[in-house]
Amino acid sequence: MSVNVLSKLLANSYVLLVKSHNVHWNVVSPNFMAIHLMTEGHYEDLFKAIDIIAERIRMVGGIAPATFAKFRELASFSDEMTASKDSEMLDDLLSCHTAVCSDLRLGISELSGSGDFATLDVLDNRLSFHEKVVWMLKATVRA
Ligand SMILES: [Fe+2]
Repeated sequence: MSVNVLSKLLANSYVLLVKSHNVHWNVVSPNFMAIHLMTEGHYEDLFKAIDIIAERIRMVGGIAPATFAKFRELASFSDEMTASKDSEMLDDLLSCHTAVCSDLRLGISELSGSGDFATLDVLDNRLSFHEKVVWMLKATVRA
């Protein structure tokens, strides 16, 4: 069960890495620099997390998904970004990070009796990150 929860988290994190880059590069906004730097902080964190999550999958006996096709299949949202307006781009990121939080809460409750404490530690840390990003994005979009 840990492998499934971690694999979904890996796919969601990889897709969010791409989407954060998309906004970092393509946003046009009076708040460009703030959004550019905020999304840079997000993709740097996601990049580090991806390796930790994939290595945890190996430690619990799974094969880490590592193709775009597999990430698309497992992720809870699309890598497409149809929004072009700054606030819509941030709303898109907000809904993705919110979806990761929901998946993580579900995964943590599923694994809570498993005794796989190290995986639960990874999931807890990732939930803290994504909840922080939800707060940051809400504070930016709804300012
Ligand atoms: Fe950059």
